[in-house]
Amino acid sequence: MRSFAGRDILSLKDFERDEYYRVFEACDALAPHARNRRNTDLCADKTLVTAFYQPSTRTRLATEAAMHRLGGHVEGFSDAKMTRAGDYYQESIKDTVHMLEYYGDVIAMRHFQQGAPAEAAKFSSVPVINCGDGWGEHPTQVLTDLYTIKKELGRIDGLRILCVGDMRMRTMHSIGYAASQFDLELDLVFPPDMSPTAEWKAELEARNTRFHEVASVRDCIDKADVIYMEPVVQADYTKSRVDPADVKKGLTPAEYKVTRELLREKAKPGSIILHSLPRMDELPADVDDTRHARMWIEAFNGVVLRMALIALVLGKME
Ligand code: CP
Repeated sequence: MRSFAGRDILSLKDFERDEYYRVFEACDALAPHARNRRNTDLCADKTLVTAFYQPSTRTRLATEAAMHRLGGHVEGFSDAKMTRAGDYYQESIKDTVHMLEYYGDVIAMRHFQQGAPAEAAKFSSVPVINCGDGWGEHPTQVLTDLYTIKKELGRIDGLRILCVGDMRMRTMHSIGYAASQFDLELDLVFPPDMSPTAEWKAELEARNTRFHEVASVRDCIDKADVIYMEPVVQADYTKSRVDPADVKKGLTPAEYKVTRELLREKAKPGSIILHSLPRMDELPADVDDTRHARMWIEAFNGVVLRMALIALVLGKME
């Protein structure tokens, strides 16, 4: 297996099956520190730099929380407008990263441009972790999702995942790539204007990922072991920020919603719901009280997963 030490985490395209399980093992080893709220000093001599050019609640704060749990230091920005990259100078990724690499030992980046973390990695002497790039990928989220599936259902192989939402989303791209490494079958449900790109479908076919396009959640929810959701009332992820005044609420058509009634009527009793969040009305809040909901345990697992990735890329675990 390739070492994680010094490695960039940019995409799940190049993740191999044994590497997923190595990350999950590291998660299991580090989880007690998070569960018991007792930080370790594993990364006490290291600093994480967060460079977030797009809004985030979970990914940035979970990554920073992970570094604190590891006993390390954290610095960074969550609003690029307050840096030279977001003001008059529009400083380039190259020039910005040549600064950041001296300020810390690992860089966690979210950007509205697809490929920006990969561009950063070209110029950085320290590992870069992609925390979501435009419509590109979201590897740390999908590693969190797979770890949650493994913990909650005891396995990943042999499962069927219903993916519902905007197929242009970075999470959907990453889960499609990840599915090629497991015995997984995907049912994709999406509005016509949010359909999978021809390029992504060709990549999935080339990787032998098994997927089917289905018109409505109602048509396939009875087969799903995992219901994996993204909104269809959705921000434009190629923008640094969307004005909340431009957001329409409560417009998700029934074909793309998962309600308590539908779960009671058609879902497998043991199926679980994952949602990377934030949500709109595709997943009403009363679903949270059902046995299917796993969104909040995902939040805990998101910290543990980032602890594992940071420790691995910094060479603190082998
Ligand atoms: N899951 C996720 O990416 O959420 P944030 O946008 O809040 O980081």
